[in-house]
Amino acid sequence: MGILRDCINKKETSSIPVWFMRQAGRYLPEFRDIRSKNTNFINLCLNIELAKEITLQPLKRFPLDAAIIFSDILLIPYALGQKVEFEKNFGPKLGELNINNVLEKSDIDILENLNPIYKLIKITSNDENLRNKDLIGFIGATWTLLVYMLNKKSPKDLNKNIYNYPNQEQLIRKIIDTQKLHIKHQVENGASIIQIFDSWAGLLDKDKLDKYIYKPTQELVDYIKSLGAVSICFPRSIKSYKEYCDIIKPNAISIDYKVDPNKIADDIDIPIQGGMDPKCLLLDKDEMLKNAKKYLEIFKDHDYIFNLGHGVMPETNPDNIKILVDFVKDFK
Ligand code: CP3
Repeated sequence: MGILRDCINKKETSSIPVWFMRQAGRYLPEFRDIRSKNTNFINLCLNIELAKEITLQPLKRFPLDAAIIFSDILLIPYALGQKVEFEKNFGPKLGELNINNVLEKSDIDILENLNPIYKLIKITSNDENLRNKDLIGFIGATWTLLVYMLNKKSPKDLNKNIYNYPNQEQLIRKIIDTQKLHIKHQVENGASIIQIFDSWAGLLDKDKLDKYIYKPTQELVDYIKSLGAVSICFPRSIKSYKEYCDIIKPNAISIDYKVDPNKIADDIDIPIQGGMDPKCLLLDKDEMLKNAKKYLEIFKDHDYIFNLGHGVMPETNPDNIKILVDFVKDFK
């Protein structure tokens, strides 16, 4: 284990921990090379050797403090028997939801579908490149998975039919139970940190937060803690990060780039991750570092993990990642 986990546990660290969401991805030519030969994205995620190689690609280039497993939040709908495809320039496309099929899926069947991910975590966590570093596992939050399973693609705005879906109580319970199963096996195989991605948290009406976000996420965070792992939550664009943290009490909170960093530094005392706009990596070097410095200065007296306010963009020049990581590593 490494300084990322130390920081989340509020321990002193020798430098500021740094990693990036989507650090393994299309901005890297070595990823694009593998991807061009593997057109089925789900199959690529389930290819243990290739997924391991992709997970480690950014660590071979940059002195990052953690790897995040190469996988996707939509492997849960996939494991529950819903068809999941990724279309170029469109994003994910899910098939019809057969609710009876989903509710009847046994744990054994689900684990069989997800088993390559656990093998991937096991062999990757033991790899030389991860010595003294953390391996981050993850899940999509219950709400975000519900949105994908019912909306069947990334939403532009909220499809209110989701609120009226007839079997929703059972479906939500099935998603939570599957998430717990997935968390347990990721942790048992070597993931020391679990990040919960709630990409569509910002879509939800205020009076629905308790049912769709607070209650399920609280159950998952408590579960992660009970396994001896730590949680980072990323409720992207949620109306109030403070209220979210007060209720859910994650071990760390990842903020998006619309959040005012000064305000959140005053409001929240758990470790904070991220914030900088991924578009800053498309600027020239000085401008990019000026933005990075802003975050590093604001969070100087806070437990802070350097990361972005969303994933690395495919247009990013890998040289800028190198410059940025070196800058963060020299900051303290
Ligand atoms: O490096 C990492 O961050 C680890 C791997 C990872 C991926 N997806 C790989 C991926 C992680 C943690 C995710 C999470 C994920 N997946 C989220 C939550 C984070 C967020 O972006 O809000 C969501 C909503 C998804 C669903 C998803 N998967 C979408 C919407 C897309 C298409 C959009 C895009 O960026 O291409 C994907 C595909 C995907 N997942 C890619 C990667 C590297 C791109 C695949 C490709 O076309 O090569």
